[in-house]
Amino acid sequence: MKLNALTFLDKKKQKQKISMITCYDFSFAQIVNGSDIDCILVGDSAANTMHGFANTVHIDTQLMSHHVAAVSKGAPNKFVIGDLPFLSYRKSLTANMNCVETLMKAGAEALKLEGALGNLNLITHMVHSGVPVMGHLGLTPQSVHTLGGHKVQGREKQAQTAILDHAKKLEEAGCFSIVLECVPSMLAKKIADELHIPVIGIGAGPDVDGQVLVLQDLLGFNDNFKPKFLKKYFSAHQVFKSVFNEYHKEVTTQMFPTAKESYE
Ligand code: KIV
Repeated sequence: MKLNALTFLDKKKQKQKISMITCYDFSFAQIVNGSDIDCILVGDSAANTMHGFANTVHIDTQLMSHHVAAVSKGAPNKFVIGDLPFLSYRKSLTANMNCVETLMKAGAEALKLEGALGNLNLITHMVHSGVPVMGHLGLTPQSVHTLGGHKVQGREKQAQTAILDHAKKLEEAGCFSIVLECVPSMLAKKIADELHIPVIGIGAGPDVDGQVLVLQDLLGFNDNFKPKFLKKYFSAHQVFKSVFNEYHKEVTTQMFPTAKESYE
């Protein structure tokens, strides 16, 4: 059954783990649509995986809306959550809500944004306007320049207290769930235990309410990307390269196309 913001909460109550994967295009969305995965995040990690940028600062609402539209067409049976891009929700209320409108009208069924401070009024306004909101704490990649890189967060007591406090504030503001990225497992467990809403982890250990991974990472597209939290379920880089080489060989040795692939 297709999840939504309400049944997301039921999953936590029933102690059922939630699986989430990122996706950015129609072809992969069709595959995810036919899979058992619970929901899709059209993440701003599209900046890295689809557009080759070093961080997520470089993607805008226009590009995100194309990814959201493609995924929502390919995966009508999945709950599709879109990411609000860098600064798109840190302007005036009207400008913020214009971005929200663009992504919802592109097909998102909920939106995610990073951080708590400065976002709480907007979150409540979005929720009251009919937009389910997912929070994101811990490593918030849009703040890469203030965090000094993509690093594990919440190692010190003070930072742990702040992250827990921000998680509670997000829940109070109306978020239906939060993503918790790259924090120690003990902290993630405490937050998942103290919140009523589901906590979806990435690099946050096993004791949260669900997991999210970037599609290209779990499929092993990038041989050089090996963070500790990542499990690669496939070797896409190696497998696809050998398929491309086979195709090249058959073209250059005239083994393809044969009569079978040709019109009379
Ligand atoms: O954009 C993204 O892929 C994300 C996940 C890492 C949670 O925000």
